[in-house]
Order: sequence, then structure tokens, then C-alpha cells
Amino acid sequence: MARILLGVTGGVAAYKALDLIRLAVAGGHSLRVIQTDNSQRFVGAASFAAITGAPVLTSEWERDPARGAFPDQPTPEHDPISHLELVRNADCFVIAPASANTIAKLAHGLADNLLTSAALAASCPLIVAPAMNHQMWESPATMANTELLRGRSITIIDPEVGSLASRNEWGSGRLAQPATILAAIEQIVPSGERPWDGRRVLVTAGGTREAIDAVRFVGNRSSGRMGFALAEAAAARGAVVTVIAANVDLPRHAQISYIDVESAADLERAAAEQFAGCDLLLMAAAVADFTPPNPAPGKLKKDGRPDLELTLKPTTDVLAQLSECRSEAQMLVGFAAEHGPDAVELGRTKLAAKGLDLLIVNDVSASGTGFESSSNEVTIVSKDGDLHVPKADKLVVANEILNAVDRLAGQRASGVISQSSDE
Ligand code: CTP
Repeated sequence: MARILLGVTGGVAAYKALDLIRLAVAGGHSLRVIQTDNSQRFVGAASFAAITGAPVLTSEWERDPARGAFPDQPTPEHDPISHLELVRNADCFVIAPASANTIAKLAHGLADNLLTSAALAASCPLIVAPAMNHQMWESPATMANTELLRGRSITIIDPEVGSLASRNEWGSGRLAQPATILAAIEQIVPSGERPWDGRRVLVTAGGTREAIDAVRFVGNRSSGRMGFALAEAAAARGAVVTVIAANVDLPRHAQISYIDVESAADLERAAAEQFAGCDLLLMAAAVADFTPPNPAPGKLKKDGRPDLELTLKPTTDVLAQLSECRSEAQMLVGFAAEHGPDAVELGRTKLAAKGLDLLIVNDVSASGTGFESSSNEVTIVSKDGDLHVPKADKLVVANEILNAVDRLAGQRASGVISQSSDE
């Protein structure tokens, strides 16, 4: 069973999307549909809703009654941004029929409607089945646009040759047969299997709070967005994900387990309990390095003091401690917020000092990235080299980090490099 998100664009072939859905539902798959405005001139949303058994989304401004869930999933309690939730939940996003206009938008990253926004946010495989007049299909612009998509590992299911919608026209441009499209889907997402099925991933996210008294704390600006994005990206790959969330006020994902903690000591305890059961640790939380050793039980009063001196004691370095008791098969990824030109060099030192496999350096002196932002720009540091990930949405960056984990695991499996703990 695969969760298939179907995008339907404007064209005579939109009615064939109904056949594709029937076929897929019969094959045990779960479907949701997004339609463009123009496609509704050919087939109404009610038809798609009836055969998928789920609401159809047509506009960025309407609420999704199913809150991004597929028919086989429970409706989440929170109200997520529906198209983002839909692509997160989907095993693949199929656009059939895909018009020349939508293909051009996909090629150039336009996000001017619900369908193209969802496509831009999708980290699952994208499958595009074009359908149009043969002159439009064969035009240099469409050819160049489809080549761009193929170059990004997007699957293009070439249209078939035959008689076309306009009278007496014959050529290449007919939507591929529904069975051909379904076969392509099942080849890419075979029986719903995902690349990280069975992998256990532990993520720490957010920022710890160290109590000064009953109402005040020493904290930091971490929002938890990067950690949550990593958790979602890992879950989308099929992993069983647990997040230790330090003071994170962000929507939760139905497929992920969350353990809420407040202080560095709470996080240390939770991580110690969970660590042995994980294959991959993504330590994105900003853990306090110092804590007030004896927080006041009540609220501290001014009491006419001219100033107040706080003494802080060091906390445990949780990541370094876990690294000491890691097994060879486990992978550890640390994060470091650094300032300025030496950021990557400092990251390299931390990678070695903490015995990590990867360290994600976030230069917090760059503007529009980091703690409270939804985008980030990082350098992935490993002992074999660095990879700069330019500024992008945190989910995009999260997927780049997981890709780096995959590459490292692949190199190890093929014996190209040894584990950092072997050194
Ligand atoms: N970390 C941790 N426990 C701490 C502090 C940090 O586990 N008490 C982890 C963070 O989650 C992060 C990595 O260590 O993955 C690097 O954190 P950072 O604060 O940049 O490094 P520090 O070793 O604390 O060095 P610095 O002196 O630069 O703060």
C-alpha cells in the first residue's frame, strides 16, 4: 500500500485521472487529490472526492477537513498547513495529467497555486505524466523544462502517440495509460516500502531552560524547527522516530513519538534512556552548557539589591557522554552554532573531540538563517570533507543532512571508510 498524492492540472485528460484513482484504490493504495483551478473546468472536485473517499484540495486558502491525513490515517489533533502535511504523509506525488504550464512552473520553482506549492515542498518522489497538444509537447520550451525535471530525478512518464483532443490532430501528447502510470508508481514506491523502514532515529530538538527560581530561567533562542524538520524527514523515509523536545511549541506529527523535557538534566536523562535503542542520533537541541546549581524554590525578590549575581555550574556534555558508550553500528550527528569565518574549522574540531560521524555547522552570524528562522544554511562536516548546503527551507536542509547520513552509511557498508569510533 502506498499513499499517493495526485495532482490534477487543466487538460482534457483530467478525466483519465479518475481511472487512475480507481485502479490505484483497487490495488489497495490510499489517495488524496489536489486540483488546479483550470482542472476543475474539466472534472469537478466532487468526482475525485467520491472515488478517493477524502476531501479534495483546490485552494491555498481553504481548510482541509482531513488536516493533511490520507484516508488510511487518523485525522491529527492539530491543524497543520494542509498541503505541507499532505506531501509529508505521501509516499509519492504524482501529477497526472501535467499541463505544459505546470511543467514550466515545476521546472522553474514557481509556487503560485496549491499544487505547485505542494510540489516544491515535496521530499517524496515526484512523478509527472504530461498530457497536451503534440506541438506544445514537442516545443523547445517544454522539452527543455522536462529535461530540467529529469535532471532533478523527477520521473517523467512520457505521453503516448495517438489521436489528440483537437479534431484531426494526431501525435505525441496523450496521457499515458492509467495502468502505465500506476506501474511506474509501484516501481518507485514498491508496496509502500520506504528507504529507512525499520531504522530507529532519535532526534533532540529545541532549547533547554535552566531554572533560576520558580518562574525564571536561563534559556536560548532555539525554536526546535531544525530538529522537528529532521524528525519529519526521517519519518517520511520510513524510520521510527523519537524526538526529545526541549520547550518546542511547534505542530506535532502523528507518526512521531515525542518526549517533552525542560532542562539539560531532563534531556540528559531522556537521551540516556533512549540512546541504546537508536541507530541514528541527530543531536539538534541547544543544550545549556551551564546551569544555576541551586534554583530558588520561590520567586526571587528584588529586596532592594543593587545587583544580582548568578553563579552557573557546567552541565554534562550529553553528546560527548553518549558518544563514549556508542556501538559501532550507531551513527551520531552533532550540531554546532558558530560565529564567523572560523565556523567550519571549529566544527571540525568538535567533530573529532566528540567522536561524531557528522557535524552540522550553522554559522549564526549569517542573516535570515538559524535559530528562529524557517530557513537555514549549513555546512555538513565529516572527516572526509565538507558539504555546504546553501540557504533553504529547514526541511530541505534536513533532507540534505539525511542524504549525507545515507552516503556515509553506504561508504561504510562498502568498506570505503572506517567508523570514527574505530580510530
Ligand atoms: N551538546 C550536548 N550537551 C551540552 C552541550 C552541547 O549534548 N551540554 C551538544 C549539542 O546538542 C550539539 C553539540 O553538542 O549537538 C555541539 O554543541 P555546542 O554548544 O556548539 O558545543 P559545545 O561543545 O557546548 O561547545 P561551545 O563551547 O562552542 O558551546
